[in-house]
Amino acid sequence: MSSSTRQTSWLVSGASRGIGLELVKQLLESPNNLVIAACRTPDKAYALNALQSSSKGSLHVIRLEVTDFDSVRAVPQAIAPILGEHGLDYLVNNAGIARQDTPLTLDPEVFLETLRTNTVGPALLTQACMPFLDKGREKKVLNISSTLGSIAKADALEHLRFGGAATYCVSKSALNMLTYKLKQERPDLIVIMLCPGWVKTDLGGESAVLEAKESIAGILKVITSATVADSGKYLSFTGAEIPW
Ligand SMILES: NC(=O)c1ccc[n+]([C@@H]2O[C@H](COP(=O)([O-])OP(=O)(O)OC[C@H]3O[C@@H](n4cnc5c(N)ncnc54)[C@H](OP(=O)(O)O)[C@@H]3O)[C@@H](O)[C@H]2O)c1
Repeated sequence: MSSSTRQTSWLVSGASRGIGLELVKQLLESPNNLVIAACRTPDKAYALNALQSSSKGSLHVIRLEVTDFDSVRAVPQAIAPILGEHGLDYLVNNAGIARQDTPLTLDPEVFLETLRTNTVGPALLTQACMPFLDKGREKKVLNISSTLGSIAKADALEHLRFGGAATYCVSKSALNMLTYKLKQERPDLIVIMLCPGWVKTDLGGESAVLEAKESIAGILKVITSATVADSGKYLSFTGAEIPW
């Protein structure tokens, strides 16, 4: 396949369920996409593996535990044979966890685990993928953040006004700054931090207002149309800017 007709390549972390799984599903509806779906236990990622049969695009499942730095550092070896001479177009740092706690009740080990998963893991995965992104056409990094990382919005959410989800909120604020720092370091990349909305997943819960399908359709529109002028923006899945 020549470089002009080659598939667009994506790497998505946390692809076993929730937002990551739906993102992979929608990408595979097009024969133009090659998706590297990263998950902790590929053998048990039944829903993800099942996408293979209906996929119009190309699906490659790799193992990735973002809190295990050796696992992250092994990613280049796993993706090099998949991508061949072509680079990676889109990196989506999606894997994440959320715990219920407050500044005065948080467990320091949980705090570190949350930062390791939601902030440090994405930082290291981006480093590991950078040689491939450099060779890619799009050079886009999408960090799945949350409006809960916004200090400006911290009092807007009734149920979190009293310090709720503290470690999660801190990890996403830190991810936002990390994303902005990457934009400063590499102005040639397109790096976006994006809130998927409140989505019905294991993390979002039953009361969430959005189906994953709707959120992902919005996310795909935002990231595929983003230009260098959008780099460093903190966006909602609707494309609206979120105040810091
Ligand atoms: N749902 C919402 O309302 C909402 C709102 C704002 C932001 N977000 C963000 O969206 C992203 C996806 O959330 P979700 O709602 O889809 O959550 P989810 O349904 O709980 O799925 C989380 C995904 O992350 C993976 N994961 C967790 N820890 C990991 C680790 N250490 N290494 C590798 N993979 C790991 C999980 O893998 P396993 O299956 O192996 O556990 C799973 O695939 C997160 O970053 C979250 O903060 C979600």
